[in-house]
Amino acid sequence: MLLNKINEVRAEVKRWRAEGLKVGLVPTMGALHEGHLSLIKRAKAECDKVVVSVFVNPIQFGPSEDFDKYPRTLEADTTLCDNESVDIVFAPNANEMYGGGRLSNDTLTYVCPPYFFVDKLCGKSRVGHFDGVCTVVMKLFNIVQPDFAYFGQKDAQQVIIIKKMVKDLNIPIEIIQCPIVREESGLALSSRNKYLSEQGKKDALVLNKILNNIKSCYKKGVTDIESLKETAYSFLTEKHELEYLEIYNCNDLEEQKEANDESIALIACRVDGVRLIDNIYFKEV
Ligand code: PAF
Repeated sequence: MLLNKINEVRAEVKRWRAEGLKVGLVPTMGALHEGHLSLIKRAKAECDKVVVSVFVNPIQFGPSEDFDKYPRTLEADTTLCDNESVDIVFAPNANEMYGGGRLSNDTLTYVCPPYFFVDKLCGKSRVGHFDGVCTVVMKLFNIVQPDFAYFGQKDAQQVIIIKKMVKDLNIPIEIIQCPIVREESGLALSSRNKYLSEQGKKDALVLNKILNNIKSCYKKGVTDIESLKETAYSFLTEKHELEYLEIYNCNDLEEQKEANDESIALIACRVDGVRLIDNIYFKEV
């Protein structure tokens, strides 16, 4: 069932709750791919009812980012959701979510995650991005009031920040983190892969290669963070514009001097003009 109105979703979920049903939420910005489908399938397996939200959230994009050209494929998304027997596809427009006013934090209430978690990795170049993410996710949580919410590990910083928000604000929702889904080539699935040329897709494999190489060096006994990071440079060519490569603690994004099983390596790199991110846990979770 495709719904656009907050009140319609609320009314439907209220009926489910009255029957004691467990509700799962999969928040997305649409352009659904196998990565999203893995979240949806997991939610379907673990919950009685599943809501997938499809909303390209304007307040998490910076002024020079790809909000306008972000792929919008609601019809195809709805078909994919129907095929997975999703109970509600919630696809509001910006007016429904934020009202007609100006979208800024001098007119809207924002949820702002702590500086420590935001002032690094993607948050450093995408100023205000995680305020926009936490604000919309909090709104979706309040609208749907799910028992479980499903997020992909590909956006590792996002999941860590959302878990922190849930803990700090005592939100009674369990966050389920699902593994990255990759093409056979190793490329992590992303809605932004649509922007890549065929050659760009090949050049993009370097992200996964760098991460795998770092992990295999760690497995062979290298723990010094700088030495691990240095192993990346031989993979990079003039086609790759590295934005960051960091190794942090996977629970709280604390810096580490020595890597251990709680480490995560995270990379952002522009390939073919497209900003791509990927990550790897040193111990599989
Ligand atoms: O990961 C995404 O697609 C978005 O950041 C999210 C969580 C749906 C919020 O808009």
